[in-house]
Amino acid sequence: MISNKILINIKSLNMIYPILKIPNKQLREKSDPILDIDKDIINILDNMAETMYAAPGVGLAAIQIGIKKQLVVIDCQYGENQKKNPIFLVNPKIIWRSDEKTTYKEGCLSIPEIYEDIERSSKCKINYRDKKNRLQELDCEGLLSTCVQHEIDHLNGILFIDYLSRLKRNSIEKKFIKINKRSS
Ligand code: NI
Repeated sequence: MISNKILINIKSLNMIYPILKIPNKQLREKSDPILDIDKDIINILDNMAETMYAAPGVGLAAIQIGIKKQLVVIDCQYGENQKKNPIFLVNPKIIWRSDEKTTYKEGCLSIPEIYEDIERSSKCKINYRDKKNRLQELDCEGLLSTCVQHEIDHLNGILFIDYLSRLKRNSIEKKFIKINKRSS
C-alpha cells in the first residue's frame, strides 16, 4: 500500500506527493488534455517537479501522483550537475520519431528497483504547451528522447514493462502484487 501522507517541504512550500506504484490501476488510465493552464495547473506542475527531485527521478507524469491530466516534468541532467532545470510539458505529443533505435536501461518511479533494457527511437520531436500556454516544439535525442517517450507513454497508460516479454513482465507484476499485499 502507498501512504497517503503528504509531506510538505517548508522551504519551498511545494508538496511532495506519494508516487503510485504498480499494480495500482490508475497507472493504466489515459490522461485528459488540459484546456486551460490556470494557477491550479501551474501548482500541480511545481509540485510534480518537487516530487520528482525528492524521489529522485528524471521524469514524472501526473498520473503517477494520481492526477489524470496530460502533464509531464522532465530533468534529464539533474543527476549530473545537481542544477535544477525542469522542462514542463502540457499536452505533449510526439510528432516525429526516428527509425534509428537506441537501447537504454530504463527505470520508473512507479516500478522501483527494476531496470530493463528498452529499445526506443533514438530521436524524436514533440510539441507541447509550456507554463505560459505557448505552443513549443522540442527536438529530443539521447536520454531526453528516451525519457520523453517513456513519460508520454504514461499519459496513455503504458509502462516500460509492457515492452518486455510476457514472461518477464508477469514476473515483475507478481512481485509487486506480493509487496502490495504484504504492506496492506
Ligand atoms: Ni515511469
